[in-house]
Amino acid sequence: MDILGMYPTFYMPWIGSAWVMGIIGVIHVVASHTSVGAAFLFALLETKAYRENKPELMDFIQRYGKFLLVFSYIVGSVTGVGIWYAITIASPRGTAGLIHSFVWVWAAEWVYFTVEVIGVYALVYLIGKIDRLTHLKVTWAFALASWATMLLIVGIISFMMWPGNDAWYQTGSTNDAFYNINFFAHLGVRTGSMLVMATVVGLIVTAGMKDKSEALRRSVVRTLTPIGLIGGAFSAIMFFYYLQTLPYNARVMLDAHLLPQYAAGMIAVVAVTVAYLVFAWWRPLWVTTWIAVPLFLFIAIVGVWPEERMRESMRKPYVAGQYIYGNQVIARDVPGKGIKGEVDIIAEKGLLKVHPFIPDRLRTITPGNQLEVGRLLAKISCANCHALEAGAPLRSLPDKFHGATDKDLIAAFINGPLKHGAVPYMPRIDLPAEEVQAIAAFLADANAHREGGTAQSPSTAAVPVAAANKE
Ligand code: HEC
Repeated sequence: MDILGMYPTFYMPWIGSAWVMGIIGVIHVVASHTSVGAAFLFALLETKAYRENKPELMDFIQRYGKFLLVFSYIVGSVTGVGIWYAITIASPRGTAGLIHSFVWVWAAEWVYFTVEVIGVYALVYLIGKIDRLTHLKVTWAFALASWATMLLIVGIISFMMWPGNDAWYQTGSTNDAFYNINFFAHLGVRTGSMLVMATVVGLIVTAGMKDKSEALRRSVVRTLTPIGLIGGAFSAIMFFYYLQTLPYNARVMLDAHLLPQYAAGMIAVVAVTVAYLVFAWWRPLWVTTWIAVPLFLFIAIVGVWPEERMRESMRKPYVAGQYIYGNQVIARDVPGKGIKGEVDIIAEKGLLKVHPFIPDRLRTITPGNQLEVGRLLAKISCANCHALEAGAPLRSLPDKFHGATDKDLIAAFINGPLKHGAVPYMPRIDLPAEEVQAIAAFLADANAHREGGTAQSPSTAAVPVAAANKE
């Protein structure tokens, strides 16, 4: 094997492709969880309307259904396609790896999604036009199809974390991948939280129903809020179960980097959501648009962003199945799929020789092109997780070296912990000496030209060396 099956590297300055993916993903999760959760709220409410003969509840379902058609389905579909595009350029091999395991799961999901979209139209436009029992069956079919799309996707994204056993590596079978160790826990977290999202959005819809009777608004709010609270409690319990199903690298990342940053926000979201739902139950008519919309935004942004960020970060250094690193290098052999690890080949031959998308003039390092090669190598090896600009928000690489301008110090880190795979959340990156020198020269230069001043003091710059010396 002379050339590895790599793709061109897509680099998004400052925020990296990770944040592009994260922003699209958060919008998608909010839209899709709201619509799947709402499908269940509709089914439960309509069952109540049918059993207790309260046809006026159907007014709410119709209005919420139209709201979903305009917002959730359009935003959800557009961002769904956006996710495909973003992951394909950000992580082409991760995406290819998933397709090789899950192509029929995606096909099945598409079928359920089609049923869901037809279902929501049928639900909204057939109210009052077909008999009530048939309509109730349509609504339940819509709810189950919606949840099926979530169930199928959760199998895939939990496999991205890890299969959790050795079977899949040996068999490569879709079942071993899909029923991975954190599938049920993850499905539980999302199923509970979709009910919360749908309740919170449902309160926006009820707040807008000023033209309807107070009795109807009260009855809707009093039915929705307990469902939201029970969903939230279930989601919280499943979250603790989920934590037990994580791999070692994820726990390190969680304890060392994520919880210190996000724990306060997560507790705040839970507290505010519980207080809000209890308040709404107590005073259903006090929930105005001015309260409902900001609370929705707060829960969506402060709740979903850290959740998605954490799931993405905890997977580090891998993007999928603990065999494809974030930087697209294959981390290990997967006999079940005929896949071979690539770290050692790269160490022996050098990335410049085995990567297909290196311009010919950069394949050999010279004093004249060293910085340019260093930048390209850093882009390929590190930029999936680190921005290359000083001060950039996505774990800026110059900042991670604390502004160091000393090439040897930077090279010592790469030749130490990175080469030996000693950092649990970073790939093992083992490169020939001259390639390490090029990356180090580029980073030292980036720090020497930091905007707004000089490099930081030598005492902080010494931190990575201390880490390297532990080796
Ligand atoms: C798959 C993702 C990934 C890749 C690829 C990656 N890193 Fe990291 N790196 C991380 C994470 C995650 C952290 C933890 C810090 C954080 O979250 O802010 C980190 C931290 C660091 C630190 C700070 C020391 C520490 O242990 O926290 C340095 C220095 C660093 N990376 C250098 C590099 C260099 C140089 C490359 C490329 C040759 C690279 N990284 C490639 C994910 C990655």
